[in-house]
Amino acid sequence: MRPRIVILISGRGSNMAAILAAGLPLDVAAVISNVPHAGGLELAAAQGIPTAVVDHRQYAQRAAFDSALIAAIDRHAPQLVVLAGFMRIFTPQFVAHYRTRLINIHPSLLPSFPGLHTHRQALAAGVRIHGCTVHFVTDELDHGPIVAQAAVPVLNEDTEALLGARVLRCEHVLYARALRWWAEGRLEHQEDGRIRIQGAPLSNGSLMSPEDA
Ligand code: GRF
Repeated sequence: MRPRIVILISGRGSNMAAILAAGLPLDVAAVISNVPHAGGLELAAAQGIPTAVVDHRQYAQRAAFDSALIAAIDRHAPQLVVLAGFMRIFTPQFVAHYRTRLINIHPSLLPSFPGLHTHRQALAAGVRIHGCTVHFVTDELDHGPIVAQAAVPVLNEDTEALLGARVLRCEHVLYARALRWWAEGRLEHQEDGRIRIQGAPLSNGSLMSPEDA
């Protein structure tokens, strides 16, 4: 039996689209958004994937929203909940409910630059290497066990938009790859809180930024 995932989005859903296009050995049971007209919903529906909206503005309390979201997700009994640009912070109850079954992609090399506007943060800090991180979600925002990271150079003439687009291209490849490892049962949660990837290829590659001229 193929494992089942539910994808949560808030916006355009380009990571979701990349996951759908990757031909992964898993079933996407549903795509759920907290934003009624999120672009990604149409994209998913066009591919025959069930969609749902749980609008956070209809709930006065965060806990009530999270309960409604849990109900909408668990209807599909997924083994993994995949956050793909889902822009809400969860209650500890929500995180506990999906312990080790909640995964996210964050557009920075964590633990650097948690939170919003990560490309702006990277430019302001003057780092020469930036990137993205796939990680499991814990109570601490943008700090859970790391599965995989991709790095890109920061160029002299970069703007937030240019740098963001470079990172996003990596996100699309990295998230699909991490989910394939998950679907193949290769992600092991170690006792020390780190993730071990079974059969991960060794790499001696390096990225120097800038390269020598
Ligand atoms: C991505 O950069 C993701 O890392 C961040 O929000 C953005 C969502 O983009 N959390 P999309 O909706 O997947 O196109």
